[in-house]
Amino acid sequence: EDDVPHSYPAVLVDGTPSPPFITQEAFNNACERYEAQETDIFVCTYPKCGTTWLQQILQLVLNKNDPKDDKQCSDAIPWLEASFGPKLGPGGRHDPEKLLTSAPYGLRAYKTHASYSQLQRLFLKGAELGRRPRTVYVARNPKDCAVSLYHHARSKTEWSYTGDWKHFVEELFFTGKVESGSWFEHTSEFWKRSQNPEEKILFLKYEDLLVAPENEVRKLLTFLGLELDDEQVTQVVTSSSFAAMKQSYKEPPANEGETPHIRQGTSGGWRSYFTVEQNEVLEFMYEKYIQRHGLVFDFGK
Ligand code: A3P
Repeated sequence: EDDVPHSYPAVLVDGTPSPPFITQEAFNNACERYEAQETDIFVCTYPKCGTTWLQQILQLVLNKNDPKDDKQCSDAIPWLEASFGPKLGPGGRHDPEKLLTSAPYGLRAYKTHASYSQLQRLFLKGAELGRRPRTVYVARNPKDCAVSLYHHARSKTEWSYTGDWKHFVEELFFTGKVESGSWFEHTSEFWKRSQNPEEKILFLKYEDLLVAPENEVRKLLTFLGLELDDEQVTQVVTSSSFAAMKQSYKEPPANEGETPHIRQGTSGGWRSYFTVEQNEVLEFMYEKYIQRHGLVFDFGK
């Protein structure tokens, strides 16, 4: 064995593992500089649970399918905490000043992978002024999420993870050492908080988006107090389909031979990865941290 078997270069932010480009200082900066407006919207997720999909949907909802809006969804709805790191560059980092002052759709919308408590830190300056943004949280079943995150770790240059599935799921995912920490904590915390309307959290699921995207788009519209007619809703769904995004979404360079960001877009693919034992470990944690709070996921076919 190597001294550092399969390094996974996360840094800790408030005790939670983060990508190397979001240092504690970067996150503190974001908290210091961002002052929430009541109209701000956050797309918040644990990584690989449908962030980009929701960014695309939200952009289309906000611009009412405007074909002239040629911004990519990751630019239209930038990643807040990632933009306050030491350098700008690939991976969705933006000029922090522009990010805070521009409101392309008459309001500001951001992506974040913050945990619930980290999000409260980001919201603190606004909260002191009595303002609370709206948060759209997208959750995905932990098995497919783990597989997607495994490919993410191997393909993205900032991770360049070289371990195999066994190492990844057993040593990193189950133990919460992956980016954003434990899926179980992240997801269950947002689920519990979303039950309180004062939190202004809409809790959506990736699997529901797969089965009936129109329904989820309508939930989003209601949550945001926006209206689109049936035809416009259909158009939002079409322009955010896997096929459409596979074609339109441009991403930063990945490691050779690895999978693209818009990879498979289905549920149930975990079955070709998890061993019986790994599945048992996951089921145990799922029962303990998720199901007992009344949250249930569809694990696909
Ligand atoms: P897979 O790796 O399972 O294919 P995130 O944007 O949070 O990083 O999530 C990425 C995952 O969402 C990837 O999952 C990706 O393929 C999937 N995804 C992105 N756009 C999608 C879409 N329009 N429909 C279905 N899945 C989509």
